[in-house]
Amino acid sequence: MDLGFRESVAVVVGGASGIGKAIAGAFAAEGARVATIDLRFPDAGQGGQFVADVTDYAAVRLAEAGVRAEFGRVDHLVFAAGIGSGKFGFPFWNLDPSDWDRVLRVNLIGAVNVAHAFAPGLAEQKRGTVLFLASVAGQIGSQTDPPYSASKAGLINFAQCAAKDLAPFGVRVNTLNPGMVQTPLNRSVWQAWADQQPPETWQDYDAWAGEKVSKIVPLGRWQTPDDLAAMAVFLASDRAANVTGQTINVDGGYVMHW
Ligand SMILES: NC(=O)c1ccc[n+]([C@@H]2O[C@H](COP(=O)([O-])OP(=O)(O)OC[C@H]3O[C@@H](n4cnc5c(N)ncnc54)[C@H](O)[C@@H]3O)[C@@H](O)[C@H]2O)c1
Repeated sequence: MDLGFRESVAVVVGGASGIGKAIAGAFAAEGARVATIDLRFPDAGQGGQFVADVTDYAAVRLAEAGVRAEFGRVDHLVFAAGIGSGKFGFPFWNLDPSDWDRVLRVNLIGAVNVAHAFAPGLAEQKRGTVLFLASVAGQIGSQTDPPYSASKAGLINFAQCAAKDLAPFGVRVNTLNPGMVQTPLNRSVWQAWADQQPPETWQDYDAWAGEKVSKIVPLGRWQTPDDLAAMAVFLASDRAANVTGQTINVDGGYVMHW
């Protein structure tokens, strides 16, 4: 299936690891030219890599200018950067209010910074797509990591606002919610939880996490970065030309609305 990305430019923020890296690879495989923005690149030296901390608006604007200088245009923007607090989150007072700051600044304000930097260019060219990676945690008041859940709920809401503002310019904005994907981030959110297991039924992390997924996900399995990437490129393509302001879950059926 040709998704029509030849000649187009995709930018993936948080593209050095996990889901963002898979999305960058999927855009490239579909013929797009790809730029990635991240804190650091384990495979540094590849083309199109721009270093920026999304909490630093000046750095994000510099990266946006760098992408435009090198690639000439931006057609598809994906925000896949994210962090958890790294602490065992429930009850919520197990955390300190100060644990919220960095999580909100990366997951929510980071997305806002990126949207501010890129939206004027997208609006001006009157065509393009934006995709925010949020989470099922943002839909269900997940107790695992309250600042993480709240940041994702905020992001889902901001995406709807951005979708309305950008619709008159022909720019579509959607949110993609992964369920459970084995990445450094997933482990950083869950490790502190696994560490709470009682010694008598102790399992190593992979066994503990695998059992949890098989019990709580209707399809009974982990999602993969490629599962998310397949939906990301579809949403960016003209096959989804009439889809905007939507929150799409690729979560094995974990969250079902009625
Ligand atoms: N893995 C899961 O199970 C899961 C579930 C739901 C939602 N998500 C969301 O999917 C997205 C991708 O997560 P992932 O699992 O691939 O994680 P990951 O840790 O593999 O990748 C996240 C990337 O974001 C980058 N990043 C973090 N802070 C940054 C900052 N301040 N500035 C710039 N880049 C920064 C990291 O360097 C990393 O490359 C995140 O938004 C995450 O919240 C993941």
